[in-house]
Amino acid sequence: MAYKTFTTAILVTGLAIGASSGALADSKPKLMMGANPKMLADTCAGCHGTDGASQGPATPTIAGLSTDYFVETMEGYANGEIPSTIMGRIAKGYNAEEFKSLAKYYGDEPFTQAKQSFDAKLVKTGAKLHDKYCEKCHAEGGTSAEDDAGVLAGQWTPYLVWQFADFNAGDRDSPKKMKKRMKKMLDKKGSASIQALLSYYASQQK
Ligand code: HEC
Ligand code: HEC
Repeated sequence: MAYKTFTTAILVTGLAIGASSGALADSKPKLMMGANPKMLADTCAGCHGTDGASQGPATPTIAGLSTDYFVETMEGYANGEIPSTIMGRIAKGYNAEEFKSLAKYYGDEPFTQAKQSFDAKLVKTGAKLHDKYCEKCHAEGGTSAEDDAGVLAGQWTPYLVWQFADFNAGDRDSPKKMKKRMKKMLDKKGSASIQALLSYYASQQK
């Protein structure tokens, strides 16, 4: 499977969605010192849903993430370490305290797994690959939000495709061990392994 072609197709779709949302100008964050978390979160709701359960597909669900992961990701967007189409601009409008407050607000909401299509034939293979290469840090089949890794199970596939593309291009940094395992998996199983993982994560729709 031409992973690159698939990625490009998704990227184009993503850009089209971004361009047509028209939400950017409105969402430019204002300084809200001392604002309560609910008020801060109002800015995010247009894209990520009122409870952090995004309607996707290129916008990730942000409810139920760990505080550490949430805050580190927002910092990464703000300082440019994590590549983004939109969040870099948004994250710059908040301070560390507001990141924490938003992280806590969304962290208290449950992660809602996306209803989306997937290739049923690949799910078993994906589950095996996940166990072998990813489960150590993305525990419980990728549902766990413990520590500083993101939730993979039930996250929107197009969003995850972007992340895989960024990791593999070296545009987004991953922990050394994750990089090693990803490389090992790709060397052994090729890009089809990514398709299988994506199907496995998308198949989780409780
Ligand atoms: C205009 C739409 C839009 C708005 C408004 C928006 N986001 Fe995002 N968010 C995105 C997109 C798209 C991504 C994927 C990264 C990118 O391309 O920017 C994302 C990614 C994220 C992530 C990473 C999730 C993960 O699993 O790694 C977090 C956390 C996040 N946003 C938090 C917020 C918060 C908090 C706000 C409000 C202060 C907000 N976003 C407002 C569109 C938006
Ligand atoms: C050594 C621990 C570790 C292993 C093993 C690992 N990861 Fe990660 N993963 C992390 C951490 C930590 C992050 C957060 C990275 C950051 O700081 O941006 C992450 C982030 C991610 C993200 C981005 C999530 C989001 O919401 O944006 C994806 C996708 C991902 N990992 C997939 C995988 C896959 C697939 C594997 C197996 C091939 C894997 N990881 C193995 C620790 C790990």
